[in-house]
Amino acid sequence: MQFGYFDDEQREYVITQPDTPLPWINYLGNEAYFGIISNTAGGYSFYKDARLRRITRYRYNNVPLDVGGRYIYIRDETDFWSPSWQPTRKDVDEYECRHGLGYTIIKSKRNGIESQTKYFVPLGQNLEVWELSITNRRERKTDLSIFSAVEFCLWDAFDDSNNYQRNYSIGEVEVENDVIYHKSEFRERRNHFAYFACSQPLAGFDTQREEFLGSYRGWDNPICVQQGVSKNSKAIGWQPIGSHHVKINLEAGETKKIIFLLGYQENSQAEKFNPPNSQTINKKYVLPIIQEYLKEETVNKAFDALKNYWETLLSKFIIDTPDIHTNRMVNIWNAYQMMVTFNFSRSASYFESGIGRGMGFRDSTQDLLGFSHLIPDRARERILDLAATQLPSGGAYHQYQPLTKLGNNDIGSDFNDDPLWLVLAVAAYIKESGDWKILDEMVPFDNQPGSEEILYEHLKRSIQYTLDRLGSHSLPLIGRADWNDCLNLNCFSDTPGQSFQTTTNKEGKVAESVFIAGLFVIAAQEMEAIASHAGNENDRSRFYNSRVNMENAIMSHGWDGKWFKRAYDNEGEAIGSSQCQEGKIFIEPQGICIMAGIGISNGVAEDALNSVKERLAFEHGIVLLDPAYKNYYLNLGEISSYPPGYKENGSVFCHTNPWIMIAETMIGRGDEAFDYYHRINPSVRERISELHRCEPYVYSQMIAGKEALKPGEAKNSWLTGTASWNYVAITQYILGIRPTYDGLQILPVIPKNWKGFSVTREYRGCEFTINVERIGLGNSTSLEVNGKKIQGTIVSTPDNGEKKLDVHVVIQ
Ligand code: BGC
Ligand code: NOJ
Repeated sequence: MQFGYFDDEQREYVITQPDTPLPWINYLGNEAYFGIISNTAGGYSFYKDARLRRITRYRYNNVPLDVGGRYIYIRDETDFWSPSWQPTRKDVDEYECRHGLGYTIIKSKRNGIESQTKYFVPLGQNLEVWELSITNRRERKTDLSIFSAVEFCLWDAFDDSNNYQRNYSIGEVEVENDVIYHKSEFRERRNHFAYFACSQPLAGFDTQREEFLGSYRGWDNPICVQQGVSKNSKAIGWQPIGSHHVKINLEAGETKKIIFLLGYQENSQAEKFNPPNSQTINKKYVLPIIQEYLKEETVNKAFDALKNYWETLLSKFIIDTPDIHTNRMVNIWNAYQMMVTFNFSRSASYFESGIGRGMGFRDSTQDLLGFSHLIPDRARERILDLAATQLPSGGAYHQYQPLTKLGNNDIGSDFNDDPLWLVLAVAAYIKESGDWKILDEMVPFDNQPGSEEILYEHLKRSIQYTLDRLGSHSLPLIGRADWNDCLNLNCFSDTPGQSFQTTTNKEGKVAESVFIAGLFVIAAQEMEAIASHAGNENDRSRFYNSRVNMENAIMSHGWDGKWFKRAYDNEGEAIGSSQCQEGKIFIEPQGICIMAGIGISNGVAEDALNSVKERLAFEHGIVLLDPAYKNYYLNLGEISSYPPGYKENGSVFCHTNPWIMIAETMIGRGDEAFDYYHRINPSVRERISELHRCEPYVYSQMIAGKEALKPGEAKNSWLTGTASWNYVAITQYILGIRPTYDGLQILPVIPKNWKGFSVTREYRGCEFTINVERIGLGNSTSLEVNGKKIQGTIVSTPDNGEKKLDVHVVIQ
């Protein structure tokens, strides 16, 4: 069953009924002002940081789901309703929500009144536009009242939902010339405020929640809307909201537009108030912005600019393959999801409340792996921000706060895989951009002025951090956890409520990770190439030697006979081995070790991948481990806290599936790789939306595994490393269009029944047009560039100023 359809032409997903299995959301904003918005206008907005600068409130886990948002009520003589269905949930005769790239349009019709609301954030602005068009399809003139409503958050979203003894007294607003300003704490240390404006003269307004709603009423039934009169309430303390009341009349067939603006503004300390010694917000800088964006013409232009922006971005990489699901994911949604994960890491989604986590170190570094071609400058800036949170030891804060860019002390460090991902991110960025100069950028450690070293030195310390922490099998010590945050081998937590992430009860001198070992091999290979490029033979051979030692350790202590082991626990016992009762085989070491090139030439990789196929793969993807843990194990931690088949305990943890796809291409099995790609591709799963439940246009973190109650049910959509890794797997390994240090490599490993495909891709300032033709069933390729045969598979960008490259590839 489906709840909508893809409109590929418009680059939109069109939802055709409001009661989707879960709220199906979209993101607004590109750089500083952001919001999440559901298909029924639920969600919230924030400036830069979903925790520290929350603009509007939202209640996660509410009953019913997804109440709190960007609401409009329409009222006629006898009736009122929400044109976005929520929060009144009164039936609408027609409904359609179009989630597009950076905007959402919700249309509906009830009793002959048609409405359409377009929500978006104009490029470069700290505000969101809600453009409402109302059309009277009745045969007579109609008088309508329109009410808007948002609930302001008292800025720090964590405090906002906790500290009521203070919060119930600090709310403050101003209403001037029909604009509502939310200015809680502006009198003291904050120099920012929010505003809510409307293009039409107001019949009234409200800023105090209970005045607008009425006691013991909800957003579904506000007393002001029911009675058709605002109270002109001024909030002091309690719950500041913004609500406008506009009266319009429409002739039969007539359409009118109303523009609402919700925005964020900062004043400098010197010009905070006007008059200077008052407590009144100085509106000198904000008013011109408000006046500008209340104009229909400006709004139209801003919307066109947003559309163009995305069109230009996405045109950097366009594919045309025989498979529609691949095309629409790569050309539209997967790229879009990568941008969203780049922006938010794991902080704000329907499943991530925006208060728990800032930007994850390993998360953000992996988000960069597929992203760099979209906006290389922002990738560069992100790399330097991340590196600046690295500790002098080479270790890394596990997370940092986007507003301050400082490492989070609450979570701290000691996740021993973290620093190695930085090497992979920098390597991916250089391979894309050719910008070797980034390695010479001076970057501090732990953001301490005076501690600056070049980025290359940071990468060296990442490598050294692993080498300084090897266990008795010469494999890396795991620390709090490696990529699998729930394999907590030093935690030994027996106390309810203890955080698996931050509690460690063992010294951490024993438990080792085969996963980190594989990751280290990949990172060391990148460092060898980087050192070679700099002509630094000393470093290169040190990286080489440490890599060979690690490969030997993996083969001596990390190979189980038919697959790679996962780890050694605090007792030195193997995890992910045929000797174990449960959790005999894990997916992560198979993926990472083979991606590192281990066992490709001697059949070991093939054995491991056959084991994956046999034991881990099923119709909804490849599960993380098998069999799942049935009991809670003190020596394993959070992984065994989940019921079998869920999350890290044996779900299809989608992030890891592309590693297997890549590994399959590395042993030349394009059919297998593509089959795995299809199993978790959201567009393929659209037809089972009632089971999958999450959005069919983006990847989810997990799909319930074969031992779950409802195998195939997805959770935690949007913010997941799955976005970037799947993009890498399909574009760089299956289609084989892969940036390297020396140029663009073209090495497809595609299904046998594909006749070919074509690609246009921007790469280092050149436009590549690539046509791939299959004439035999193998994977060997030969290339012609602008009509001339070349040796090998790497096309370097010409130094004669030529900008257009036509590449013809024959596979046989
Ligand atoms: C989740 C993990 C996540 C970790 C850190 C755990 O509860 O299962 O997927 O990495 O929390 O936030
Ligand atoms: C989600 C976390 O954000 C990520 O850092 C971790 O690698 C995975 N879960 C697996 O535990």
